[in-house]
Amino acid sequence: MSGETSNRAVPGEPPAGPATPAADRRPGPHRRRVLAGAGLFGLGAGAGATLGTQRLLPERADPVAAARRSALAPVVGDGRHQPGIIERAPAHLVFTAYDLTATDPVAARAALGAVLRAWTEGGRALMHGESPSGAIPGGVTAGGVTAGGVRPAGVGREAAGLGPAGLTVTVGIGASALRRAGLDARLPGPLADIPALPGDRLEAARGEGDLAVQVCAEDPMVAFAAARQLGRLAAGRVRPRWSQRGFQRTAAAATDPAATPRNLMGQLDGTNNPRPGTAQFDLAVWAVSGPEWMRGGTYLVCRRIRMLLDSWERLTEDARGEVIGRRIDDGAPLSAPSADAGGGEDTAADFAARGPDGRPLIAGNAHIRLSNPQFHGGIAMFRRGYSYDDGLDAAGEPDAGLFFLAFQADPRTAFVPVQRTLAASDALNTFIRHTASALFAVPPAASPDGYLGQRLLEEV
Ligand code: HEM
Repeated sequence: MSGETSNRAVPGEPPAGPATPAADRRPGPHRRRVLAGAGLFGLGAGAGATLGTQRLLPERADPVAAARRSALAPVVGDGRHQPGIIERAPAHLVFTAYDLTATDPVAARAALGAVLRAWTEGGRALMHGESPSGAIPGGVTAGGVTAGGVRPAGVGREAAGLGPAGLTVTVGIGASALRRAGLDARLPGPLADIPALPGDRLEAARGEGDLAVQVCAEDPMVAFAAARQLGRLAAGRVRPRWSQRGFQRTAAAATDPAATPRNLMGQLDGTNNPRPGTAQFDLAVWAVSGPEWMRGGTYLVCRRIRMLLDSWERLTEDARGEVIGRRIDDGAPLSAPSADAGGGEDTAADFAARGPDGRPLIAGNAHIRLSNPQFHGGIAMFRRGYSYDDGLDAAGEPDAGLFFLAFQADPRTAFVPVQRTLAASDALNTFIRHTASALFAVPPAASPDGYLGQRLLEEV
């Protein structure tokens, strides 16, 4: 039921008609992406394998085995955009924000250039499974040992014996770095500070930063070692400001590594994300206007969002579903038919649908209604967040939640208005608390012999 009068009764309800664009009625983005990736990386071993009690098919015929294998393969990137955005998010994240130590603009600018050069080369080497100290005579292997068996200072053994594990290194630049380096004239509009938003409970010790390095890998030792090595490469020029580790389920343990993952509240998270390789994704994520140095880049919004899990877990499963607007078990929107009748995660949400009692099936304050692009001028963002678990707070409650990471062409028209709407009335607000915020410009990939952000520093 979706008459004009009833529409008005629900804040944000769309006009009657198809609720979600046809392009969105598709298999989950993770599934498609990983299966495509699996094809790219080849199907290796071929022989059958056993996982737990499950007898697996030969890999050639088994997309699950192929997806697991691709999760461990090296990431090559597409040459245009930095890796760590369109690839399936591997299981582990080490995110570190840094500040430049120089105070004088000329010195800060020189340091910024040196750090970006070091991270470009270091990131390339690490993603190839080599040590970033590869220039050391004798050639350094993945374990950091020279051909002569000498272990140079600064080269550790942390990741020795491990493969590339899907490692990606993604570098971001904060507005404060440009200001510190006297580059205010090159500040892109979308890098405008995220305004204070209602409900924010931001902690002084976390958030913002001159520079950021997002390291993702399927193995935690690989991620740790890479983040540590990149930190060492910039030592003296930067000081660490804050860091956040995050995780997702591993490809090895997942029944289907290509399926949408769950967050710590147990929800399938990522269902209605723009899908890489589509026009919707390109429009939502890549900067096409603004200063030359950011064309083909993107902007990364980070929010550390604590989940009040003790309260959340007291809700029944139905009540949890109503908060989000999707069923917890299969992720189907609450407007979808039952699973027996064919409803599922990929069923388009119908925000106009009402139940027999006349109430909207997806509540007026449900998270997916308030954040859906059709209520925000069609503008989307690409969410690629990680769960985090930082142990217990002083009261013995879990400090765990979502490290929300969203890539977008312009946060002023994507994240900021959506978060303003969510902060005002999202049913989820009772169960979450935003504790940190940061925004970084993520420049496009470096040219083969150049470095990240080169056009920022060298454009005349
Ligand atoms: C801990 C905090 C959050 C949790 C647990 C959460 C959870 C979810 C879940 C379960 C969905 C439905 C599945 C999906 O399409 O991915 C969803 C959708 C979405 N969320 Fe969140 N979310 C959180 C914070 C945010 C924030 C801060 C924003 C942006 C300001 C946001 C934006 C969106 C958008 C744009 C969608 C897609 C809505 C649609 O088109 O159907 N979320 N979220």
